[in-house]
Amino acid sequence: MILTLNQVTKKFGDKVAVNDMNLELNEGVYGILGANGSGKTTLMRMLATVMHPTSGQLLLDGKDIFQLDDAYRDLVGYLPQQVGLYKNFTAEKFLLYIAALKGLGKEQAKQKVDQMLRWVGLEAHRREKVGKFSGGMKQRVGIAQALLNDPKILIVDEPTAGLDPKERIRFRNLMSSIAANRIVVLSTHIVSDLEYIAREIVIMKDGQLIKKGNPQKLLARLDGKVWLVTISDAQLAFYQEQYKVGNIIRRENGIEIRVISDEKPQRAAIVAAPNLEDLYLYYFD
Ligand SMILES: Nc1ncnc2c1ncn2[C@@H]1O[C@H](COP(=O)(O)OP(=O)(O)OP(=O)(O)O)[C@@H](O)[C@H]1O
Ligand SMILES: [Mg+2]
Repeated sequence: MILTLNQVTKKFGDKVAVNDMNLELNEGVYGILGANGSGKTTLMRMLATVMHPTSGQLLLDGKDIFQLDDAYRDLVGYLPQQVGLYKNFTAEKFLLYIAALKGLGKEQAKQKVDQMLRWVGLEAHRREKVGKFSGGMKQRVGIAQALLNDPKILIVDEPTAGLDPKERIRFRNLMSSIAANRIVVLSTHIVSDLEYIAREIVIMKDGQLIKKGNPQKLLARLDGKVWLVTISDAQLAFYQEQYKVGNIIRRENGIEIRVISDEKPQRAAIVAAPNLEDLYLYYFD
């Protein structure tokens, strides 16, 4: 299975939200990384066929996804960035309702809903109203509904926004466990979400794809460019002005800052192992 974007552009009036994107997606998890407004949601809505491109094509194994129509949609699970969950439904009712919309028969729907509730760890809460759930629980209901039809293509838009760290880990593990034999496209601006699960990272900026590659390779580009520097309060403004500065930690002997720089910023600077946060800073700041 291969999903291809061929010179895909989406405009809203004069605004170019996605600009001439070319991309090939196979089985595995793809992390779409980008700042607010960089075009992630627009891209995902097109992949979910919720929105047509202004120009260019989206192809599954060479066939236009909009022409494939239901044959494509049957393969897709989509968790939008803003999920409208029916607050007064119980988790179970809501999922049964979505299963019916997706055309599952009654018995199959029941089975599938049971399986999903177990899978996302909401079995004990199946008869509770979704409106009373925490953000993380709602997100799990969202994921469960996207997976009901056992999609071969799973599109999840900012799935971890608003989750606490524990829920985020849980979500990551869930994604890893379902990724086999599927194309999973996941957008986020929380880079640590992707470090362990993404096979490829796609960095978007102003509607364009500016970088793509596996996390290790992308990180290797930053080898020897990330530094830990200890400075005084008074020096902070200077460093922030001169360099891309990541984490700032207050220590007993001053402030330790994480600096991204081709050259060693200070004699006592210590080189650090790059992480995805650094990569993000490197491309976005
Ligand atoms: N329906 C719309 N009408 C007009 N402009 C839009 C519409 N949808 C998106 N845009 C614009 O297109 C650009 C890309 O938006 P998009 O929502 O795809 O970004 P994003 O990367 O998902 O951002 P975020 O991280 O905030 O979710 C933005 O400038 C946005 O204002
Ligand atoms: Mg978005």
